[in-house]
Amino acid sequence: MSIEHCKIIELPKIAEPRGNLTFIEGNNHIPFDIRRVYYLYDVPGGSERGGHAHKALSQLIIAMSGSFDVVLDDGGEKKRFHLNRSYQGLYVCPMIWRELDNFSSGSVCMVLASNIYEESDYYRDYEEFM
Ligand code: TYD
Repeated sequence: MSIEHCKIIELPKIAEPRGNLTFIEGNNHIPFDIRRVYYLYDVPGGSERGGHAHKALSQLIIAMSGSFDVVLDDGGEKKRFHLNRSYQGLYVCPMIWRELDNFSSGSVCMVLASNIYEESDYYRDYEEFM
């Protein structure tokens, strides 16, 4: 799949004086069912995460707190996204190389995934991915 399928999804936001609420339903607000949730936190300044692609996995990446950048690469084109809103998610379709950097201190990166963890779904070698 190409990078054109990857985009920022605006999530529902119920704003009230007592605070905001955002929700995500699988196959409704995002184009896949959610089978796994994981999050990155306590990421040291200057650290990079990612550095791999997935064969079949779809993901939604959200900056729950703070900010960071996600660089997507489909082998032909690269795009950098800056995530800093908890009501926006970056949809990443299968077969996209991703790198995460520029983490602000205290940032939390939550990822919703279409499947459980399977190492066999990873390309960890860029040449092999290409
Ligand atoms: P990895 O996917 O390389 O992290 P990131 O892309 O965010 O930098 O995973 C780091 C380690 O955690 C690796 O040993 C695999 C393990 N892991 C799991 O066991 N389950 C999971 O759901 C994830 C995402 C990673």
